[in-house]
Amino acid sequence: MKFKTITSALMLLLAFHIGQAQQTNVVISINAEQAKDTISKHIYGHFAEHLGRCIYEGIYVGEENTTIPNTEGVRNDIIEALKELNIPNLRWPGGCFADTYHWKDGVGPKEDRPTIVNRWWGGVTEDNSFGTHNFLNLCETLETEPYLSANVGSGTVQELIDWVQYTNHDKVSPMADWRRENGREEPWNVKYWGVGNEAWGCGGNMTAEYYADLYRKYATFMAGWSGDNKVFRIASGASGGDYHWTETLMKNVPHKLMEAVALHHYSVFDWSDKGPSATFDEEIYYKTIKEALKMEEFVTKHSEIMDKYDPDNKVALFVDEWGGWYDTEPEIANGVLYQQSTIRDVVLAGLTLNTFNNHARRVKMANLAQVVNVLQAVILTDKEKMILTPTYHVMNMYKVHQDALLLPTEITNNSLYNELPAISVSASKDANGVNHISLVNIDPKKEISIEISVADLGIKNVSGAVLTSNKLQDHNTFENPDKVKPADFKGFKLKKGMLTVKLPPYSLVVLEGK
Ligand code: AHR
Repeated sequence: MKFKTITSALMLLLAFHIGQAQQTNVVISINAEQAKDTISKHIYGHFAEHLGRCIYEGIYVGEENTTIPNTEGVRNDIIEALKELNIPNLRWPGGCFADTYHWKDGVGPKEDRPTIVNRWWGGVTEDNSFGTHNFLNLCETLETEPYLSANVGSGTVQELIDWVQYTNHDKVSPMADWRRENGREEPWNVKYWGVGNEAWGCGGNMTAEYYADLYRKYATFMAGWSGDNKVFRIASGASGGDYHWTETLMKNVPHKLMEAVALHHYSVFDWSDKGPSATFDEEIYYKTIKEALKMEEFVTKHSEIMDKYDPDNKVALFVDEWGGWYDTEPEIANGVLYQQSTIRDVVLAGLTLNTFNNHARRVKMANLAQVVNVLQAVILTDKEKMILTPTYHVMNMYKVHQDALLLPTEITNNSLYNELPAISVSASKDANGVNHISLVNIDPKKEISIEISVADLGIKNVSGAVLTSNKLQDHNTFENPDKVKPADFKGFKLKKGMLTVKLPPYSLVVLEGK
């Protein structure tokens, strides 16, 4: 009897300790005195490829034969939504499509333009009605920097340098004169130029060594064509953990020829069975998030290689394709890479953007794939209807970090979701001295308590917004477009410089502190 009582008391004590251990807060320290890097606004960039219904139907409906309100054929609702996001740049025309695209086919009178078969994406025939003028004028309307991804795989050096001359030359020259003939007097001064895309795959199945040599040739001829404007040349980069690719480029290409090296990573756990975009279970959720978290490792290791060859940080790392990639729902007709964006994508985007912010020293641009109707789109359209996805709201909530000073953070005692770190964070101070802390809880079951000391930041008032929903699979539809949207967040207390936050399961929160 006595033995039983002692055992029960011990059990109780043990349970109490386990309970205490579970309740211990995650602690985040913000090391403001170490702040030195600016978070490039270009980390919040987007990508539009001739793929599925991204360009045609999604962005461009043409000026004739449509009842959808448009400006030079581009949907007004899309323009308005993207303006609200302050999108800093837009990459076009691919992707894999870029290495099949011959830009000269897309300028001049529309009736004279040849067709093209989109061999990578559904074999559809396109009429080239959306071309260089349409894209660059759209970027002007959006006040965003164009990023042209040029054809190396099936193009020529001459074709590429003609494109640079066409878009950027401000004097008399064959291409600038042709541009004027086609209705545009002033050059657009395009700064960002991708020299091929995925050269290791759809861009030509090249080896790193071969591509590095080819890159040197292309880059040599890509001089600026307008006054002092210099072009910014981006080498086609590695996929995920292909470190040999980055090492070869950094070693074999003179750095005066290369302003950035790219990197692509999609959060796919099995390329032969990517799983559904909305009807997934928790196991699939876990696997996707595990893949998304690899971005931290990839960016860290690619940056280490770049540090070795470029200690002065002259060559930037551009993650110019990232996001979730799932199977298209079978009932969706012509649904080339069309997918839903759910709370899983909120978590994925939030933690990935935190990684980019935290690596602001080397990561100077990133492009979410893709902007409308394709992969982790921020906007979906159905004829005249348009909805904003949960990922749109993430980009909108995180835009406060654009061009802000990164405040380095450290997490101790992080909670674990299986073996994954449950909490992710980044913080910044904007030009007006306002602090922003963005937090993500990947745990689908547990609310997590977090302590953040903000005394050193002089924060007196805090407000916040949260993005979550009842179910991980929740998403916006044309029937219910506002199912997932940001709400005021009240789950925090500020006392004597200590901010205690209760972060709900699978949620994203952005706090503002003044
Ligand atoms: O974004 C879809 C495709 O993914 C792009 O065309 C290609 O670059 C990548 O493999």
